[in-house]
Amino acid sequence: MNTINHYAVFGSPISHSKSPRIHQLFAMQTHQNLDYIAQEVTANNFISTVENFFKKGGVGLNCTVPLKELAWQFANKKTERAEFAKAVNTLALQSDGTILGDNTDGIGLVNDLVFNHDIELKNKRILILGAGGATRGILSPLLEQQPDYLIVANRSVEKAAALAIEFNNKFTSCSFDALSGEKFDLIFNATSASLNDELPPLPPNLLTENGICYDLAYGNLPTAFVRWGTSQNARKSLDGLGMLVEQAAEAFKLWRGIQPNTKSVIELLNSER
Ligand code: ATR
Repeated sequence: MNTINHYAVFGSPISHSKSPRIHQLFAMQTHQNLDYIAQEVTANNFISTVENFFKKGGVGLNCTVPLKELAWQFANKKTERAEFAKAVNTLALQSDGTILGDNTDGIGLVNDLVFNHDIELKNKRILILGAGGATRGILSPLLEQQPDYLIVANRSVEKAAALAIEFNNKFTSCSFDALSGEKFDLIFNATSASLNDELPPLPPNLLTENGICYDLAYGNLPTAFVRWGTSQNARKSLDGLGMLVEQAAEAFKLWRGIQPNTKSVIELLNSER
């Protein structure tokens, strides 16, 4: 019998999550028998809700803000990229009953850049804004692409400096003020400022001639950072919808062993904005 498998995304706020729609589209496309719901879960009730989810037959879970670090703690085993990130966005029940934690955010970002937008990272000068969980998730996959130079700028500069030490100084850190006069091929916004339609205090003229801006956040309307990129004449100023679909595809692959087609799903979601 082909029984239905249960998946969910936990987070807060979660009502506007596009993940259920993305995974339903993947399931239809690949003929998988599964359901996937979004559930409002806070840090306070995370452990009991996750335990209950797996006890009642759930087999895979996505965790988003503010639960990724708790999910990292909860997982019995972790992939190498999740260990580096100290954050988990995907939990998968294993055949021996243990729970594997993965972080598919960084590979989702790299896949969106490379395959959907034809953007190379090798030998590029990269700036990441923010030093929180979102930055942790993307650092290792971005460094693997061998950029020429990577710097993390943060409002609390000591947090960026501590992150650089944790990553064996494979990148440098600074304050927003210290960016004046620097030029970058790619600027990623990994702060949570976009969630309040705010912008980090950035000096102008940070982009090289063909420079690109990418906000890890997304919305139906352009985010404050996407608008800033456009005002700075970025060659492209993108939001994180493509990354969202690509990280979901990596989670789907982990759970189902099948690679879904992402382009058609991104096109559909873009047409619905
Ligand atoms: P996440 O898991 O989404 O990364 P987080 O760990 O709370 O969330 O990190 C949020 C990041 O956004 C931090 O780098 C934060 O800067 P501080 O470390 O100085 O707090 C940054 N951030 C949030 N709001 C911001 C704003 N309005 N301007 C600039 N940076 C902001």
